Amino acid sequence: MTDRFHWSKAVAGVMDALVVPAFGAPGILIRSQGWTEDLGRVDLRGQRFIVTGANAGIGLAITTALARQGAQVDLVCRDQLRATDAIETVSNSVRSTPYGPEAQLNVVLADLTDLQATRAACVQLAQDPTPIEALVHNAGALFSQRILSPQGVEQTFALHVLNPFLMTALLLKPFREHRRARVIWVSSGGMYTQRLKVRDLAKGADRFDGVVAYAQCKRAQIEVMKRMHEGEHKHGLVISAMHPGWADTRGVRESLPRFRQLTRWFLRDAAQGADTALWLALSAEAKQAGGRLYLDRVPRSEHIPWSGTQTAEEDIDALWALCERLCGVTWPD
Ligand SMILES: NC(=O)c1ccc[n+]([C@@H]2O[C@H](COP(=O)([O-])OP(=O)(O)OC[C@H]3O[C@@H](n4cnc5c(N)ncnc54)[C@H](OP(=O)(O)O)[C@@H]3O)[C@@H](O)[C@H]2O)c1
Repeated sequence: MTDRFHWSKAVAGVMDALVVPAFGAPGILIRSQGWTEDLGRVDLRGQRFIVTGANAGIGLAITTALARQGAQVDLVCRDQLRATDAIETVSNSVRSTPYGPEAQLNVVLADLTDLQATRAACVQLAQDPTPIEALVHNAGALFSQRILSPQGVEQTFALHVLNPFLMTALLLKPFREHRRARVIWVSSGGMYTQRLKVRDLAKGADRFDGVVAYAQCKRAQIEVMKRMHEGEHKHGLVISAMHPGWADTRGVRESLPRFRQLTRWFLRDAAQGADTALWLALSAEAKQAGGRLYLDRVPRSEHIPWSGTQTAEEDIDALWALCERLCGVTWPD
């Protein structure tokens, strides 16, 4: 172990204890001094991945990294033009890498606030017999107004919780057959601010606040992920969550312009925001990662000490039942 590694580990420990300082670019730069796995060297030719919200920001960075290593990536996007642009961007950037020209990029169109569209996307995804190595639930957005989805559900909840719940449920058969798939939920450090209020999720709180609704749903993602992993690890699935820290993406630029103005010097780039999702999808070490929340390849507490944000078991039961009811599925044993 080098002196440099000792130094970086101590600084990373202090940043982690203070929770928020680790979210910016310095967090990953310091933490990465201790990493031994080089994810850029894995040969992914013939291996299949699904990434939602793959045409921008963190999803685009995940897709690019997978394509660079020759993978098949199914990009689940809601807009054909943006998806086509993304494929062109990815293809151009991986063209001169050893395996990049062998990457296969397929578009599956779906507005993921609409459960019918999620269902149709899953039918299309299930038609391809190639086993799925990992599904990354990345699509996300922060909405300034309460708008209901086509099924009458507040769209923050529909997009971040119901859609990944339903998508995982509908792909469960191939996942269980493959016995080594990984499912990754892209959550957010915003969830640290919230104790789950299940009653507000389906329709939104009486006085809607988009930032609170977003953080509530990111908290709900963690609870659903843990419950799902508990049931699925006996079938070989590894289900985990990560949060990207704070990355300078269109999502942050458009939804939190003042925050971005203040923190711009401190933000990560999209590739740094994507790193832990890639690690969870690819790393041999991350095969043991199920049921936990990760930042910078390290499992993290889901709560800031003394914040009172722990979720009662009956609230997790109620959340799970709500997901099953609104998605119209009963989770199989
Ligand atoms: N950036 C950060 O600092 C940060 C921090 C914490 C968590 N996150 C999480 O990271 C994930 C990616 O965010 P980002 O920062 O990369 O944002 P982004 O650049 O805005 O990308 C979001 C992606 O999600 C897609 N999406 C949004 N609504 C959708 C819908 N209804 N149906 C299908 N796709 C939809 C977008 O597609 P369109 O292009 O069609 O809109 C886009 O591809 C999100 O889950 C976000 O909550 C980000």
